[in-house]
Amino acid sequence: MKYNFDAMQNRLGSDSIKWEKQLKFGTQSGLLPFWIADTDFAALPEAVEAMKQRLEHPVFGYTFTGNRTVETVQKWYERRHQVKLGIEAFLPAQGVVTAIWFSLRGFTKPGDKVLVFTPVYDPFFAVIGNQGREQVDCPLIYENGTYRINWEDLEDKLKQGVSAMIFCNPHNPVGRVWSPEDVEKIVLLCKKYSVWLLSDEIHGDVVLYGNHYTSAARFAGVYDKMIVYTAISKTFNMAGLHSSCCLIPNQEVKQLQDKTAREAWVMGPNCMANAAIEACYTYGDQWVDEQNEYLTGNADFVMDYLGEHAPEVGVVKPEGTYLMWLDFGKLHLTGDEIMKKLAANYGLAVGSGTGYRGNGESFMRFNIGCPRAVLEQGLEKIVQFVTDEKGV
Ligand SMILES: Cc1ncc(COP(=O)(O)O)c(C=O)c1O
Repeated sequence: MKYNFDAMQNRLGSDSIKWEKQLKFGTQSGLLPFWIADTDFAALPEAVEAMKQRLEHPVFGYTFTGNRTVETVQKWYERRHQVKLGIEAFLPAQGVVTAIWFSLRGFTKPGDKVLVFTPVYDPFFAVIGNQGREQVDCPLIYENGTYRINWEDLEDKLKQGVSAMIFCNPHNPVGRVWSPEDVEKIVLLCKKYSVWLLSDEIHGDVVLYGNHYTSAARFAGVYDKMIVYTAISKTFNMAGLHSSCCLIPNQEVKQLQDKTAREAWVMGPNCMANAAIEACYTYGDQWVDEQNEYLTGNADFVMDYLGEHAPEVGVVKPEGTYLMWLDFGKLHLTGDEIMKKLAANYGLAVGSGTGYRGNGESFMRFNIGCPRAVLEQGLEKIVQFVTDEKGV
């Protein structure tokens, strides 16, 4: 390995939400964190260098994200994901959730139905509900330790008049990397019922066990009422730069997305993000591959450790993302209750699955994006918690 993902980074003093704003766990800091979705890995050295070089220019006035930067995103998608779209299809934006907010604002009206596959990343509920759109849940089926789409339920719901669907691929929090057949079926169903396909692919490059993700953009020739959202934030641990990029095959759709964001005076990525995006997508191939290998090792470590010491905890084997979905159903506690106990008595910050809806009630979302030694410390505490609960 060229890069060292075992290296410990002390993030205290860097304004890290994960380490220094643990308010939902009842404290400011001090808990060993496995919650919010960033990693504790040092960024790609070339990206850090590119930002330092940008700092050499002492003027930080308004900037735009131009073709030089956008081309690196386009080439990455062509090289790694067989997406063949011209540069005009790429629209830089500030954040993925913000971009989804504007898509819903631009393409749907208050009262329109928006479908999500639960359990799912909960800010989706906020962008739907806070804009007066009606959320329609299509719960994933949980069977034999994995999740799949309930196609029958989905089509029934689409028939009843859904305006947009937020698809999450790979799926946070259940870790599915949807198959090419799944993605194609989703596109075809959206086409059949004329539904806006909002495909959040922010975790697309974080794939484990040799899996490959299929972007909905590969099917743009079949149907182009779609917006695909990506970013360097998860893949390269750059969430603090607040940048993203939309892939929008249809030019009219792109113009509407752009106009809707501009109405709120929200611009694209900042100048430091431009430097980072270019470097990540130009020099980051090996770094990403090695990170995926390391994360696969971490996922194996979690499954082996819990399998041996706390087999009561069900582990959903992830295909992608660095978020593991742990089933505590056998303890008969809710995710919120477990979250409080882990924070108060075991010094851990782990996200509760309760708020993700679907069958998330007794699940926890466990972020494995950290050095293995830190992961082991967290697992020791989880095992202690499970052992104590069994004794109750
Ligand atoms: C599926 C998904 N979408 C979007 C985001 C956040 O993206 P952004 O910070 O660009 O809004 C996350 C972060 O965890 C995520 O998991």
